[in-house]
Amino acid sequence: MVEKVELLLAEVESFSSSAPDEIEQFRIRMLGKKGEVTQLFAQFKDVPNEQKKDFGKKLNELKTKSINKVNVLKEAAEQSKESKTNIDMSRPAENLAFGSRHPISIIRNEIIEIFSKIGFGVSDGPEIEDDWHNFSALNFPEEHPARDMQDTFFINDSVALRTHTSSVQVRVMEESKPPIRTISPGRVFRNEAISARAHCIFHQVEGLYIDKGVSFSDLKQSLMYFAKEMFGEETEIRLRPSYFPFTEPSAEVDISCVLCNGDGCNVCKQSGYLEILGCGMVDPNVLENCDIDPSVYSGFAFGMGVERIAMLKFGINDLRHFFENDIRFLKQFRSTV
Ligand code: PHE
Repeated sequence: MVEKVELLLAEVESFSSSAPDEIEQFRIRMLGKKGEVTQLFAQFKDVPNEQKKDFGKKLNELKTKSINKVNVLKEAAEQSKESKTNIDMSRPAENLAFGSRHPISIIRNEIIEIFSKIGFGVSDGPEIEDDWHNFSALNFPEEHPARDMQDTFFINDSVALRTHTSSVQVRVMEESKPPIRTISPGRVFRNEAISARAHCIFHQVEGLYIDKGVSFSDLKQSLMYFAKEMFGEETEIRLRPSYFPFTEPSAEVDISCVLCNGDGCNVCKQSGYLEILGCGMVDPNVLENCDIDPSVYSGFAFGMGVERIAMLKFGINDLRHFFENDIRFLKQFRSTV
């Protein structure tokens, strides 16, 4: 009998399994109602008295070791099941939220891409600008209202936050020789009340082309190309005479309404057209101010507000959305540029 217990003890010690049903079978065989341990306990009374002490001790040891073994193996099996679920390679990955570009960046990049196809490079300049680059070189008369405190954030008498990126074009003309073909995207600042249609900070892309024999028809053709690339092949443009100190002649450019195709709707105020930019032939005074001989060279310039283009393109009716950074607004935009 004692030998039997010892054999079983050796068996308990060597048993190992990670399969829950194998462990359960082992438990039943040892500790179940008809299990070895239970049966041995039932036979205890038949053990000769002088062996009882030794046998009882061994039997108790067998019982405790069996219980421990079953518990330890069950726990290990349970844990390995859990850790396996943690590294389940077939499980779909957690959804990561997509980042998205700001709509103003999307449109700015699109404008840059469209003009790069016809040879325009990108130029950059400071947002804090001196009077010369923002106004004087651009032929603004001393008393021009755009210099007024109402429009311009002055830092001191001769330094201000730039009101347009034409200032960058002055810098490019000063630093390089024609032919010049550049666009200058950037932030501009105007002292205006914030509303659905205006903001004190907004973004512009201005363009400049200077070479021998550049004509108004080059300007018109370039802008027509831009309008069709940006708003679709069927888009028409219309030029209206206008005034800017730095261009002569100057024009305002409208596109056929993107919503009603020119039939007249609320967005175009029944006119069939939407204004998108200002342009003109660079005034000879501006060329002279930048040491470019106007009797040899001529050029055109244009400037547009990026917010305006983005509003038309995406059908956004309040400019303030661009500045509030509401995630519900921003995550609606996807882009490839
Ligand atoms: N600088 C002008 C503005 O900010 C836009 C413009 C640029 C107009 C070039 C004509 C030519 O409104």
